[in-house]
Amino acid sequence: MPRINDLNLNNWKEYQDIITDSLWIIGERDKSGTHKGDYHGNFIPQIPNQLMRRFTKKGDVVLDTFLGSGTTLIECKRLGRNGIGIELLPGVAEIAKQRISQEPLFDNEVFTEVLIADSTKKETRQKVDEILKTHGRQNVQLIIMHPPYHDIIKFSDRPEDLSNAKSVKDFIKLFGDVVSNFLDLLERRHYLAVVIGDKYTNSEWIPLGFMTMQEVLNRDGLILKSILVKNMVNNRAKRNQEHLWRYRALVGGFYIFRHEYILLFQKK
Ligand SMILES: C[S@@+](CC[C@H](N)C(=O)[O-])C[C@H]1O[C@@H](n2cnc3c(N)ncnc32)[C@H](O)[C@@H]1O
Repeated sequence: MPRINDLNLNNWKEYQDIITDSLWIIGERDKSGTHKGDYHGNFIPQIPNQLMRRFTKKGDVVLDTFLGSGTTLIECKRLGRNGIGIELLPGVAEIAKQRISQEPLFDNEVFTEVLIADSTKKETRQKVDEILKTHGRQNVQLIIMHPPYHDIIKFSDRPEDLSNAKSVKDFIKLFGDVVSNFLDLLERRHYLAVVIGDKYTNSEWIPLGFMTMQEVLNRDGLILKSILVKNMVNNRAKRNQEHLWRYRALVGGFYIFRHEYILLFQKK
């Protein structure tokens, strides 16, 4: 069976830093180069880095439908993968573009394209098709989706923004629209990764992770490969309130979020 990565498994013991367990306890965020880590709601670069090294080869195309500050495309440049990122908000996309362009090129053949667009819309899919065509490609080898965790962080007031969805049901519907919009672009045997955390509202744990997982699995042609649980480190504001949160948890009979999910699906 043809391999989907560049790992030489004859020397598999040399890849000590490639994670193979489902529990991801990641220490320091990678803040090297143009990874600033200052966009509220960004993920740590180690996530796309690990995913790309296991599930793509050099020269493959990675699609990120919620690009934010450009973390995935910066990693694409470092690892010699092509990248297409879609971000709804022009100001955020501009920051991403700057950071991606400041990152040194690993390989002149690699392209990185940032689209300012709504990932739920068919027109956006057409634009992605056009980009792929320009580069002589028809499909992508990895899709990364790091949507808002519903309204935990409000990214804007725009109705197309998933963080602005009126209800959890609407949020899942919009997320499903993005999955449907791009799933057939994914090459067979390749991976879709959804990075998401749960939320807690009105004294109730809302399992956004399991809900989005089921939304993906409602579609034919994909299997679930892994549910990865990653440690979540609080920002400074929350760290200062740790005692308060501990007290609230004890009073309210719940546990404080310390994890998020990376849900891994493979196209059959
Ligand atoms: C959790 S953040 C992604 C952060 C990113 N992984 C990073 O490291 O910076 C989600 C992003 O999705 C964007 N977004 C929300 N709705 C969108 C939509 N309909 N289409 C495209 N992007 C959207 C938000 O503006 C936000 O930047």
